[in-house]
Amino acid sequence: MLHGDGDNDYEKYMRTDSLLSLQREKSEWIYRDELLFQITHQSTELWLKLQNEELDEAARELNAGHLAKASILVRRGTECIKIISQQLEILTFMTPCDFIKIRPSLGNGSGIESPGWRSVNINAKKLAKAFSDYVREQQIDLIDVYTVKAHSEFYNLCESLINWDEQVAMWRIRHYKVAVRTIGHNSIGTKGTPVDKLIQRLNMKYFTELWEVRTKLTEMSSEY
Ligand code: HEM
Repeated sequence: MLHGDGDNDYEKYMRTDSLLSLQREKSEWIYRDELLFQITHQSTELWLKLQNEELDEAARELNAGHLAKASILVRRGTECIKIISQQLEILTFMTPCDFIKIRPSLGNGSGIESPGWRSVNINAKKLAKAFSDYVREQQIDLIDVYTVKAHSEFYNLCESLINWDEQVAMWRIRHYKVAVRTIGHNSIGTKGTPVDKLIQRLNMKYFTELWEVRTKLTEMSSEY
């Protein structure tokens, strides 16, 4: 038997007592959808905790020149983002009026303050730097990678970074659409930002060289 709180090893290892006490009590709810809203956000933070570990380690592996290991870690991070994108869907079962009812409970709290998302930004920048350093140190020509060396180990890493960047953009797009269908265009969020300002971040990219190489290839093709 493991040590810790719980009636069995599952409860002790998973720390279910602590985990399940992290949501507001029924007696504290001003409206029942608080549970849906809190669990969606809390589980997002958990998946982002894992995603951030994967990206942090991917940067270390890439700095050490381990391309296949870095690639699989990035893919694991992408799966985490996919899961949190999918779970945005359950929020669409809240009507605009349901959200209006729970809003006073949130105070000025907003997802913009999410520690998980802040770390995504930090870890993605770290990984983007590791990638740029590797390209520079190894004197890699990305045009070559996407033409004659397509499907090499390095190409696979590049594509896993593109998939990651794209999946984060997909989260942003879905989040924007869910926010708009909940509070409506031109409404102000709990942190004071107009919801439509989120559009400015939809096309944000971390692995810019990998997007630029596509543009260059298209430009080159029109030269023929
Ligand atoms: C009905 C559900 C939701 C609504 C209506 C909503 C609304 C908003 C609004 C209006 C903003 C702009 C900032 C502000 O609050 O003033 C925002 C930002 C943000 N929200 Fe949400 N949100 C919802 C769900 C979520 C969920 C589940 C997450 C997951 C953690 C999240 C994470 C974020 C993040 C990270 C930002 C900053 C945007 C960025 O960096 O692109 N939101 N949200």
